[in-house]
Amino acid sequence: MELSQTALITELGRCAVELATGAAEFVGTRTGGEQHISSKTTATDLVTDTDRATEEWIMGYLARRRPDDAILGEEGEGREGNSGVRWVIDPIDGTVNFVLGIPMYAVSIAAEIGGRSVAAAVVNPVSGELFRATLGAGAYATGGAFGGERRLTGPRDVPLERAVLGTGFGYDRDRRARQAALTARLLPQIADIRRLGSAALDICAVAAGRLDGYFEVGLNPWDHAAAVLIAREAGALAVGPKGREPDAALTVVGGTQLMARLPGLLDELGIDAVL
Ligand code: IPD
Ligand code: CA
Repeated sequence: MELSQTALITELGRCAVELATGAAEFVGTRTGGEQHISSKTTATDLVTDTDRATEEWIMGYLARRRPDDAILGEEGEGREGNSGVRWVIDPIDGTVNFVLGIPMYAVSIAAEIGGRSVAAAVVNPVSGELFRATLGAGAYATGGAFGGERRLTGPRDVPLERAVLGTGFGYDRDRRARQAALTARLLPQIADIRRLGSAALDICAVAAGRLDGYFEVGLNPWDHAAAVLIAREAGALAVGPKGREPDAALTVVGGTQLMARLPGLLDELGIDAVL
């Protein structure tokens, strides 16, 4: 990799941390107040004024700091660019938790070059935990239970039978029924399941060794773009359908022993038919 590319990635990493930290502070100033809540793709897919205002805050920051970059945002505040860099942002991942006051939601920010994440930051505004990574330079966490800066080393390397896996369910009721049926078939073959309510924090939990693995069908790019880089830089493996890159059809993350069996098992259990 050329030095200029390395320097660019370092700069994008700095920018991702500033953005995620600043946006998390912004979310914090609006927590506890009355939220205006509406729905998006289905009646249970919620969006609040804070999701939208936070995305606008992020857009404003990028307009000043990186005016030539493209942006893809969950709340539709996208823009084209001409620099070859694209920001993929989720102002609040875990909006339902935010609405309910469950302290498991996060600002998720990724910078991509050529469609590949090269810098990422995920911040939980309540715990103050920051997860960050840049391509080839490792993953780190600070704040909350981490205290000072800690290098992340990925999940325990346990076999399928001992693995505690995170997962999630989408907002379409027919798909949720298929997701639940597949999870019921998987559960006897693993140690246990957790459904925390934020894909970005689930995948960062794998990076930090708090979960052994994670899988979900139907994620959007802003749910996983940052956290998958963080998990990989921590040493975890991440794949999508048939060993391809994680995508809207499937995201599977975990340690070596788990990943030798989980993607194949999900195929056998009919993951193809869940989307
Ligand atoms: C959702 C969360 C949830 C996952 C859903 C996502 P949102 O994102 O990450 O954990 O199961 O698939 O859509 O709607 O809170 O930004
Ligand atoms: Ca999300």
